[in-house]
Amino acid sequence: MQYNASGSSAARQSADCVIVGAYTKRGLNSAASAIDEASGGYLSKLAKAGDLPSNPGASTLLRDLKGVKARRVLVVGLGPKNEFCIKQLERATESAIRALANTSVKSVALNLGSNSERFDEPARVTSASIAAVHRAVYRFNQLKSSKARTRPSKINKIVFGFSSRAACNKAKAEFKTADAVAKGVALTKDLGNLPANVCTPDYLAKTSRQFARDYKNVSVQVMGMKDLKRMGMGAFISVTQGADTPPRLIVMRYKGAAAKEAPVALVGKGITFDTGGISLKPPATMDEMKFDMCGAAAVIGAFKSVAMLQPNLNLVAVVAACENMPSGNASRPGDIVTTMAGHTVEILNTDAEGRLILCDALTYTKKFKPKAIIDVATLTGACVIALGEHFSGLMSPNDGLANDLIQSGVEAGDTAWRMPVTEEYQSRLSSNFADFANVGGRPAGAVTAACFLWRFMKDQNWAHLDIAGSAWKTGAQKGATGRPVGLLVNYILNKG
Ligand code: BES
Ligand code: MN
Ligand code: ZN
Repeated sequence: MQYNASGSSAARQSADCVIVGAYTKRGLNSAASAIDEASGGYLSKLAKAGDLPSNPGASTLLRDLKGVKARRVLVVGLGPKNEFCIKQLERATESAIRALANTSVKSVALNLGSNSERFDEPARVTSASIAAVHRAVYRFNQLKSSKARTRPSKINKIVFGFSSRAACNKAKAEFKTADAVAKGVALTKDLGNLPANVCTPDYLAKTSRQFARDYKNVSVQVMGMKDLKRMGMGAFISVTQGADTPPRLIVMRYKGAAAKEAPVALVGKGITFDTGGISLKPPATMDEMKFDMCGAAAVIGAFKSVAMLQPNLNLVAVVAACENMPSGNASRPGDIVTTMAGHTVEILNTDAEGRLILCDALTYTKKFKPKAIIDVATLTGACVIALGEHFSGLMSPNDGLANDLIQSGVEAGDTAWRMPVTEEYQSRLSSNFADFANVGGRPAGAVTAACFLWRFMKDQNWAHLDIAGSAWKTGAQKGATGRPVGLLVNYILNKG
């Protein structure tokens, strides 16, 4: 994808299609007004006749307007003017690009937030729009034979229309980062969408290992069962032991600053398929448990974005990857295992496996003496119940880190909502037979899962992102979202 910014009037922009907006009640945005003027009031005429879309997402494609340089003008509904915000801008942009999917349009000039009176933040407009365009052009066709494939988008160039040179420059400064984030997001989606018979722990390892060849300052280490045993990762081993597919512990390091600079560390849950184990899940939507590695995929995607951008900082990304399967070797409810940190854990439910692989991966990650450790996991169904799909759950005992992550999410349009991790909840994890249990019952299930991890992160600047609701969509739109790559990369670039 190529990007540019232009200060010329929408009527003078050269692109296959100029995209402008219409608010509810016949309100043209400033770019649409410019088109209207140049074309001798054509858009006003349409508006008067009730033929202009104004509902969010609706659009009309016009051709060969008098006085307009571009051959096509797409008018997109923006909804009520006083409700227009960055989220609406993203939605309108995404549907505009989708509306052009089956046309021959290759280059577009985007004027939805850019020329608009509503925003004076060209940087936010630009990064949000680039994310939205990439959402619209994303396809997952690699496992379909040719007839079943959805047509790839031809769009390969976006020009942002802004009213001043200064705004254009602010937009241009965002192109590189936003494009790197989009590529990280696309990789995260691909990994998530791939089924468990393709995207195995070793597939994640091979994808990560490629980074060491593709990018400067990157090293990747991949470990297997022998290493897990050597390091005493009894909790991780208890999850993988029922599977025939071998586990992987993947460590990616990016060194963009002096070795004495403490890195930020990301840790991802990479359960490539979660059957629940002996505490078997019901069949109805079990296919979606191929997405149980979306935390790992986000960590890998964020790492890719950072490696592409080569910023002046250090980053460590650790992925714990295995399958959770029932078998004669699988762990049983009631089994007690010893973690790398030395705690014993009673596995009351083998379906609470994410925390078991993560606790050992988190303990391992301490060895890098990171300034912050952020784990990312599709950890609990309870988080889906609590927050649904719009916010990732964020748990952290560290206010500074929590606030930074929330802020990063807001700026990236990839939001998280803070939930508690406090001592009151810890008693839910008590066990009669071991140091503690791996489940705390139904109340506050997302919180008690975080409390389990917290026991391994005392004295660490640590945060946990539960992305069970945000990492993929269910139903007709089923597919990975690539979240929270935007939040993570924004955080790393600002605070790393
Ligand atoms: N991967 C699941 C969490 C999940 C479930 C994410 C549904 C998205 C949709 C996790 O391993 C799990 O099974 N958690 C259990 C924990 C329970 C046994 C305490 C859950 O949420 O039911
Ligand atoms: Mn599970
Ligand atoms: Zn799981």
